[in-house]
Amino acid sequence: MALKSGVYLQLAPVLFGSGTIKELGNKCKELGWKKVMVVTDQGVAKVGHDAKAANILKSAGLEVVIWANALPEVPDYNVLEGAAFARAEKVDGLVGVGGGSSLDCCKCVAVVAPNGDGIVDDVIAYLTGQKKYAVPPLPQILIPTTAGTGSECTFVAVITHKKLNQKIGLPSHSSFNIIDPELTLGTPNNITAACGLDAFSHAAEALTEVKNTVHSDLLAYEAMRLVAANLRKACSNPMDLEAREYLAVGSNFAGISFSESGVHMGHSIAHALGFHHHIPHGVACALVTPPTIEFAATHYPEKIKAIAGSLGIPAPSGSPAQIGKVVADEVRKLMKDVDIPSVGKLNVSREQLLDLAQYVDGEPLCTTFAGPVTRAEIDKALASMYDDYK
Ligand SMILES: [Fe+2]
Repeated sequence: MALKSGVYLQLAPVLFGSGTIKELGNKCKELGWKKVMVVTDQGVAKVGHDAKAANILKSAGLEVVIWANALPEVPDYNVLEGAAFARAEKVDGLVGVGGGSSLDCCKCVAVVAPNGDGIVDDVIAYLTGQKKYAVPPLPQILIPTTAGTGSECTFVAVITHKKLNQKIGLPSHSSFNIIDPELTLGTPNNITAACGLDAFSHAAEALTEVKNTVHSDLLAYEAMRLVAANLRKACSNPMDLEAREYLAVGSNFAGISFSESGVHMGHSIAHALGFHHHIPHGVACALVTPPTIEFAATHYPEKIKAIAGSLGIPAPSGSPAQIGKVVADEVRKLMKDVDIPSVGKLNVSREQLLDLAQYVDGEPLCTTFAGPVTRAEIDKALASMYDDYK
C-alpha cells in the first residue's frame, strides 16, 4: 500500500533528561524574560516542584511570582483568575509546572491574559479557525510532572466550559518544554497508572485519526511500547527512575503523535464521562481504550494488529473483530495489573454510561476518526466499557 501523505509537526523544542530542570533559568534568559509567572496547583506545590523551579529562576536573576491555584480539569473561571493575576503582575512569560490541568491552565492563561476574557466565550470560533488572536499569546515553558497528558506538545488546552456544558480545546502551545523524569519519581500508583494509560490512549487513537501520518504512526507505536513495557514497573516501584524515564518519553511521543494526528471517539467518550460524572481524564481514557481499539480494528485491522508488537504479544490472526479483541484484551490485562477501577466501581451505572451516547454522537472530536462513527458503534463501545472490564 502506498504511504499516506501528510504534515510532520513538532510545535516546540523539547529538552529531555533527568535533572534538566536546572536549565530553566538559562532558557528563560535566552528568551529575554525578566519577570516570570509559575503556574501550578496545590498538589504540585505541596511536593515543592514549583519552589524548585522558582529557586532556579531566582538564581538566574529573574523575578518570579508563583500562582499555585490551577484547579483540576481547568474550569473556565479558574483560567480568568490566572489571566487576571498575569496581567496585574505584568509578567514576560509563563512557566507551567504540573500535570495536564496545570499545563493546560498555563496554556489558556497565556492566550487570555493579553487578549481579554472574551476569548473564553468565543472558544469555538478560535478552535475552528474563524477567529485569530489579536495579540500573540505570552510565551511559555511547560514542565510536566506526570507522564501522561502530553499537554506540553499539543496545540490546544482543554478547558471545562460552563456555558457550553462541555470540555473543549482552546488553541495554545508552548514555546519550549523541559521533560525531566526525576520530577515524576514517587508519583502515587493511581496517578501513574491513569496518566500512563492516557498516553497509551493518545497513541492508540492517533493511529486511526483522519490526519495520521507515517511519522505520527511511528511515534504512536513506540509510545505504546514504552508505556506497556514500563507502566507495571513504575507502579510497583514508584522510585524506578529508568521506568519513569521511558514513561516520560513515551508520554511525550504520544503527545507529539496526537498533536500531529489527533484523537477521536475514545476521547470524545472520555470527555463526556469526565464532564458528566467527574471521572479523572486518565481513568476515563483507560476505560474507553479497549472498546475504541475493537472499533478501530473493524476499519483498520492491519494497524491494530501491529499494536500487538508494541504490547509484546504475537500478532493475532483471524477476522478484524478477532484481531481487535486480542489486542483490546491485552490492554485490559495491563489496566487490571495497574489497578484501573471499573466503571461500576466508580459508581457510574450501566444506564448512566449508555446515556452518554447523546453527547458523543456527532460531537466534533468524535467525527475525526478516519471513517464513519455511527450511533450503534458508540452504543456498543459504551456497553463494552461496562460489560467487558469488571
Ligand atoms: Fe487524553
